[in-house]
Amino acid sequence: MSVRVVVGAQWGDEGKGKITDILAESADVVVRYQGGSNAGHTVVVGDSTYKLHLIPSGILHPNVLSIMGDGTVIDVEGLLEEIDGLQARGIACDNLCISGCAHVILPYHKLIDGLQEEARGKDSIGTTRRGIGPAYTDKTARMPRPVRMWDLLCKDTLRQRIEGQLAQKNVILRELYGHPALDVDEVLEEVWAPAQKVQPHIADARVALLQKLDEGANVVMEGAQGTFLDLDCGTFPFVTSSHPIAGGACLGTGIGPTAIDEVLIVAKAYTTRVGAGAFPTEDEGESGDIIRERGHEYGTTTGRPRRCGWLDLVVLRTSARINGATGIALTLLDVLDTVETIPVCVGYTIRGTKYDYIPSNVDLLEEVTPVFEELEGWQQDTGGCRSFSDLPRAAQDYVARIEQFTGTPVKFVSVGPARDQTIVR
Ligand code: IMP
Repeated sequence: MSVRVVVGAQWGDEGKGKITDILAESADVVVRYQGGSNAGHTVVVGDSTYKLHLIPSGILHPNVLSIMGDGTVIDVEGLLEEIDGLQARGIACDNLCISGCAHVILPYHKLIDGLQEEARGKDSIGTTRRGIGPAYTDKTARMPRPVRMWDLLCKDTLRQRIEGQLAQKNVILRELYGHPALDVDEVLEEVWAPAQKVQPHIADARVALLQKLDEGANVVMEGAQGTFLDLDCGTFPFVTSSHPIAGGACLGTGIGPTAIDEVLIVAKAYTTRVGAGAFPTEDEGESGDIIRERGHEYGTTTGRPRRCGWLDLVVLRTSARINGATGIALTLLDVLDTVETIPVCVGYTIRGTKYDYIPSNVDLLEEVTPVFEELEGWQQDTGGCRSFSDLPRAAQDYVARIEQFTGTPVKFVSVGPARDQTIVR
């Protein structure tokens, strides 16, 4: 039995889907523990590319139970589209189990997410507008009772919940945003049709997972977004509304921390970020453009160009601590194949003080002067490397520097999108 957690080390989009997919080969269960369709996980199998938003990457393995845990938020229409899309490509999705305790994203959450972003003007967060923040807000508010997946099993209950919610939401829509009120029955019908189709997947996911653990199953917990988008540990307020960190795997599934054997943080060989917020090593010039084009750094969910910059080892060291990382999966190393000299950030100077960790007062990050160290590039194609010793010496040294600075072993090195373009150490 083993429980392994896969967490984004930076600001999301690190390639967690690919690493989870590889671990899923020897897993019995894959669980998503937080977030919703703000995520975008790309998995390449042979000639086929799958872009998953909600459904765990384990779904591509028919014998793996794929669980969407209590801590996720589910856009039922989006979910159904994803199931239909997978089924059209021959993936049955019979192995999908959705927690009845997961909260449902309703049309008004998406609407309010967009209206809030507009109203924030220059202070906008740059959310994915998928209704994530408003849905988690209702969850923490508790009353009036928000809609959970359990409520999709009975139309009368669903109607009651929507009615209770709209009594408040319509005041907000009208008075705060000058938006017409929403009709209870229209919202109900919009949700009820897809809800009926996903009903067979709704279950007590917590019990299902605990039973599997009792049977000695190998479990992979798949985080979405990244450590510095965590609501508490991230660069607040430019974060998501859930807990992508390893601790979130306990919150979002109901397993205890001592059940976790391994925490793998997934890091790009450089850094990207989507949306607003601090980014100490951002390169808004030519280098950033080169990384963006070579790395195809455009959002899977929104298509937005990602902000790009060099590897920030301060971010990785802090991430390793926050997550209790036992290993790093380094992705997209091949994107750096053409660079002559590679700068990596090994410290910050903020108001004359030196830092080698991310201060919890993240407002200070707006004033960072990064301290760079120049590492030798390898200027060689690494896409065909299949073992660590195949990598050019300078690429091996790059990996060694990451291990040394973070005190964490690099266990996987990914040199391309395909499953076999992965060096396992
Ligand atoms: P939200 O999760 O849609 O509320 O967006 C909050 C912040 O998290 C924004 O900066 C988004 O760009 C960012 N974000 C959300 N999901 C992802 C993701 O999967 N990858 C990268 N950034 C994300």
